[in-house]
Amino acid sequence: MSRSSLLFTKRNPKSVVHLSGFPGIIPVRGMSSVPPKKKTWKFRPLSTHSTSRASEDLAYYGNKKQTAVSLQALMETGLGNRLDGSDTSPDEVNFSGASERVKIQIACFLHRELPIRLAHRAVDLENTKEFADNRHVNNVISWYKTSFKALRACPAPTDAAKEEHFASICADMYDRHSHTLITMAMAAHELRNKLGKSISEFATARAIQQSLDDFYKSRIGIRILIGQYLALRGNRGPDSDPTMIGLISQKCSVKDIAEKAIRDARYMCDRVHGDSPEVHILGRTDQTFPYIPSHLEYMLLELLKNSLRATVETHGVDNMPRIKVVIADSEDNEDCVIKISDEGGGIPRSNISKVWSYLFTTADPAILESILAEDSGPDFATSSPLAGLGYGIPISRAYARYFGGDLVIMSMEGYGTDSYIYVPKLNDKQLQSRDFLS
Ligand SMILES: Nc1ncnc2c1ncn2[C@@H]1O[C@H](COP(=O)(O)OP(=O)(O)OP(=O)(O)O)[C@@H](O)[C@H]1O
Ligand SMILES: [Mg+2]
Repeated sequence: MSRSSLLFTKRNPKSVVHLSGFPGIIPVRGMSSVPPKKKTWKFRPLSTHSTSRASEDLAYYGNKKQTAVSLQALMETGLGNRLDGSDTSPDEVNFSGASERVKIQIACFLHRELPIRLAHRAVDLENTKEFADNRHVNNVISWYKTSFKALRACPAPTDAAKEEHFASICADMYDRHSHTLITMAMAAHELRNKLGKSISEFATARAIQQSLDDFYKSRIGIRILIGQYLALRGNRGPDSDPTMIGLISQKCSVKDIAEKAIRDARYMCDRVHGDSPEVHILGRTDQTFPYIPSHLEYMLLELLKNSLRATVETHGVDNMPRIKVVIADSEDNEDCVIKISDEGGGIPRSNISKVWSYLFTTADPAILESILAEDSGPDFATSSPLAGLGYGIPISRAYARYFGGDLVIMSMEGYGTDSYIYVPKLNDKQLQSRDFLS
């Protein structure tokens, strides 16, 4: 699997105005919602004037509350079940993608919501003192500002033509931000060098960890919202999976996704070590639930890569104990739990807290250096290294937590590691009443 196909990487709260509360077409707040600026009679060159206006606009939006959206709301909106006066027939997504009314409904919501989320990110990054004057972070901030301005300049997508135009702005935005992960990794690396810390010391810097956790959580939300909208607009051929609503599968199969992740991880391991351990899938292989398959695939691939690497490095290629993927679930369970279990020698207790850091890796430092070399460019395909950046675990946990799940790692040094992915089930009543995507 190519990481580039994932939402998080490339291409591809809390005052809550829930999507369910929206009328068919959401009234869009235009420039008039910005408080009037103080009049000044002192002459200022136009460029300074417009720059300060743009900053005020950004600051204003950066103070507005974000709207949380649940997975349930995304699914129902995609099916056209939340249109005003609609019957609730789920035929709004057909071969030519979502209906015009659904597209306009979602576009109007995004037109109002995305500037708020983008402004939050830009303002938060600007206020993170650890990253002050970091050229990589400044690049990321400039992408957020460019996208913010493009959205603010775009008319409300209240008819088909305007919606089409809005979609092209969203597609550009999706691409513009596609290098964010690697750029933020460069930023963290540069900061670490500036502080003169080792990777291990840097991994315990709490403030940086917290600000990166917040940043990636928010980034996942933004990319889900845009990705879902663009996916719903796409044409669906007769061979399209009828259980897919945009990015969301109504019947996500852990077994199918695990099989693909195993193939990709073993391919990557074979390439480095010439062989790879076997991986067996056990437990409820028949289980399906509503989820975003690309998120589950990302988590499984990252955890499997780690287990394969640890197994080969501990045992060599001639005597590799097999790795197990165990799926535990039943109708009454709160979560579907997936365990990836290896006998790869485990993680020393002193390193357990560091594995959640965005730069902690025990791979050869030369790999990190080469990934982060500016001219090499990001390559997150299966041709990327088996390990090296130190992002696999923290980003996987960000995905798992996004919809109220979690990632937990238990390790026995000298034996092996068990990683547990908790996926909350959408049909759980508690989940339906909760809002995510902050
Ligand atoms: N199953 C495991 N067995 C032993 N060590 C592990 C295991 N999983 C993770 N680790 C340790 O945790 C570190 C961080 O893992 P993480 O996946 O976040 O980054 P990485 O594998 O080094 O690089 P990448 O971003 O390419 O995945 C690894 O370098 C390794 O030392
Ligand atoms: Mg890894």
